[in-house]
Amino acid sequence: MKPIEIAKGIYDVGVIDWNIRDFHGYSTNLGTTYNAFLILDEKITLIDTVKKEFADHLIDNISQIADPEKIAYIISNHTEMDHSGSLPRVMHRIGEDKPLFCSKMGQKNLSRHYSRKWNYRAVENGEELSIGTRTLKFLETRMIHWPDSMFTYLREEKILFSSDAFGQHYAGPEKFDDSIGEAIMPHAKKYFANILMLYSPLILRLIENVTKLGLEFNMICPDHGILWRRDPAKIINAYIQWSSQKPEKKAVIVYDTMWHSTEKMAESIASGLCEEGIHVRPMKLREWHRSDIMTEVLDAKAVIAGSPTLNNGLYPTVSDFLTYMKGLKPLNKIGAAFGSYGWSGESAQLLQNELEAMKFDIAAPLLKIQYVPDKAGMDQCAAFGRTIGKAIKG
Ligand code: FEO
Repeated sequence: MKPIEIAKGIYDVGVIDWNIRDFHGYSTNLGTTYNAFLILDEKITLIDTVKKEFADHLIDNISQIADPEKIAYIISNHTEMDHSGSLPRVMHRIGEDKPLFCSKMGQKNLSRHYSRKWNYRAVENGEELSIGTRTLKFLETRMIHWPDSMFTYLREEKILFSSDAFGQHYAGPEKFDDSIGEAIMPHAKKYFANILMLYSPLILRLIENVTKLGLEFNMICPDHGILWRRDPAKIINAYIQWSSQKPEKKAVIVYDTMWHSTEKMAESIASGLCEEGIHVRPMKLREWHRSDIMTEVLDAKAVIAGSPTLNNGLYPTVSDFLTYMKGLKPLNKIGAAFGSYGWSGESAQLLQNELEAMKFDIAAPLLKIQYVPDKAGMDQCAAFGRTIGKAIKG
């Protein structure tokens, strides 16, 4: 496929990874893209590369637009290997001595990844680089989401090359927001929930700082998914909303089950929440991927966790999910714990301990039922759901 000219003299020379389904533990049901950008000017400039296995594809795409050896500058906005993995191959092709611009941490991290003595040019936050008729401005975005991360802003065309920020793991025929419309937003939300949620306070501060700089954006070009050109403010506003983590009147029941008893409890708890008019989604861990559950958690007020007791502990899928959720640091949640058991019955207390460690306010005393819930047990579960529903409504 010929690279698309996204603005006059600026091409997306990246690649589509149609078949990836697991991106370091994140379910990429529709694949993803690794976007990279070539700017034709007096100094031909390449912004970012792609995953190592797509290096030849990237070089082929570049070759359709310009002789790779004529590239004068390379910019690495981010060291993670989905964007830098092709650098050794690209540098070898275009010339190992070509200046490679990155943040100070970028230089350190690229060196640790590739052990090459490239011609690094570490840039400061706000530093500018003329490439001929155009000027690039580098904006440090440390910890969004790696210590090396930065944005590159093209002043004349007002284009922000935003690395991972504002991206989506989506592979499709569309290149821009105007061709896909609202359908891209669930992918952007999932990406935020699973990759950026823990940096919410930093993201709000970054957006505030960029706003103070008075930069305007005609286009935002992330390194994954579609590019925002019809309405770049839409994704910025979505990031403000998601980073604020203001919960909706919504509950997620995340659980697993051995012999369906914890499952019965989950469904009865859900009915209690429904009676209170709460939007609730019970999500069984062996049926739902953890990254889809986190997308629901992002804007839910309540996370209700359930596990049977197995060998005096939690069911392994539940432990896995709790570890994942804890790392993403969700804010402003209430929670509750439940589970069935046979004889020792530790699971509900262990769950509640984990929720408390995540600073969730406990909305109802933990609920545990031995073996199979009977009618009275099911009524107890529904009442538990109603109690949490009332707490959600405040
Ligand atoms: Fe798409 Fe942080 O890499």
